Amino acid sequence: MRGKSVLLIIGGGIAAYKALELVRRLAERGVKTRAILTKAGAEFVTPLSLSALTGEKIYSDLFSLTDEAEMGHIQLSRSADLVVVAPATADLMAKMANGLANDLASTALLATDKPVLMAPAMNVRMWQSASVTRNRDILAKDGVLFVGPNDGEMACGEFGPGRIAEPLEIVAAIESALAVEGPLAGIRALVTAGPTREPVDPVRFLANHSSGKQGYAIADALARAGADTTLISGPVSLAAPQGVRLQRVTTAREMLAACEAALPADVLVMAAAVADWRPDVAANSKIKKSTDRVVPLIKLVENPDILATLSAHAARPRLVIGFAAETDDVVSNAVAKRTRKGADWIIANDVSGDVMGGERNRVHLISEAGIEDWPDMTKNEVGTRLAARIAQKLKGAA
Ligand code: C5P
Repeated sequence: MRGKSVLLIIGGGIAAYKALELVRRLAERGVKTRAILTKAGAEFVTPLSLSALTGEKIYSDLFSLTDEAEMGHIQLSRSADLVVVAPATADLMAKMANGLANDLASTALLATDKPVLMAPAMNVRMWQSASVTRNRDILAKDGVLFVGPNDGEMACGEFGPGRIAEPLEIVAAIESALAVEGPLAGIRALVTAGPTREPVDPVRFLANHSSGKQGYAIADALARAGADTTLISGPVSLAAPQGVRLQRVTTAREMLAACEAALPADVLVMAAAVADWRPDVAANSKIKKSTDRVVPLIKLVENPDILATLSAHAARPRLVIGFAAETDDVVSNAVAKRTRKGADWIIANDVSGDVMGGERNRVHLISEAGIEDWPDMTKNEVGTRLAARIAQKLKGAA
């Protein structure tokens, strides 16, 4: 990270004081910070303490002619390698999600051509509100990276998600966002994880036991190896791995659309347990139990096969990796699946035990070169080993 620079936008909120420690931690690692202090942020930290820590002038007013003469807001937004918003308030998130530019912070966010990492901090109900959820999804779709928020007791006395990530967690997320030296630096990775949910009616759905753990572990390992990583996830209760762009979807068709929108990528890892079928129609209102005990028939139709579709896509990733979760004839089924779906590699695993939802996995890597049996290991270890194999294949790295 030495020699890199960060533009830190400090929003208003009690968590703003943690920005001071963040600046110190970055300085220890040789990262230069320029800071924009919003009007609300200035209620919590002073420009003086910030400039003492950054050794730089603090920017706070879009229309200051002196600032514009020294460094215009466009240049300021592009002078750093990464823009970090900490704390990211609901207000700053809303502005960026909607393209508002009515102060220096929002203007810089709109004008930047650099990756943006947000560390949200707000009251738990605000974080869970419909509009913040919507804005977070828009931002994630636009490529914004997130770290936190964490669960815990908040300054307002409530408990739940909303606490800003700890300064060292933000540093780790900055490290992976800036990763330029990992074996996968310069590589774009697209990973899917979790189940899909196929609605029957507004309260019922078809799904499966996938926990998403393996896919999240792979996305995490790829990002740690320096890949620019997008994770498209079905409904699971896991937090976004640091430095990974997370986009949540529900159905198989949404997952396909999100994957296509995320192309081009160099490598695709389809770890999601996509539902093979969906109800032909999702009823608009809850299907009622009939009094004469007639059971409703749900007609199923086939979902698109995302792996096969992306394997045959005009923008096909150079390396396409699928999963084969099998309960019988694991390897022979997976070998056939590799050809049928047009994948380069298949990671096959036996899911007849407690693999789904568990912490460990025993997989076989099936490629053009044959079958490799990997020993039983944690899902994180599978992720790390797979990331190393991907690096070897795409970059010739050891
Ligand atoms: O055919 P099967 O479901 O066993 O194939 C598993 C592989 O295909 C996984 O990589 C899974 O993510 C992918 N898949 C898909 N779209 C589907 C079903 C499976 O991409 N509709």
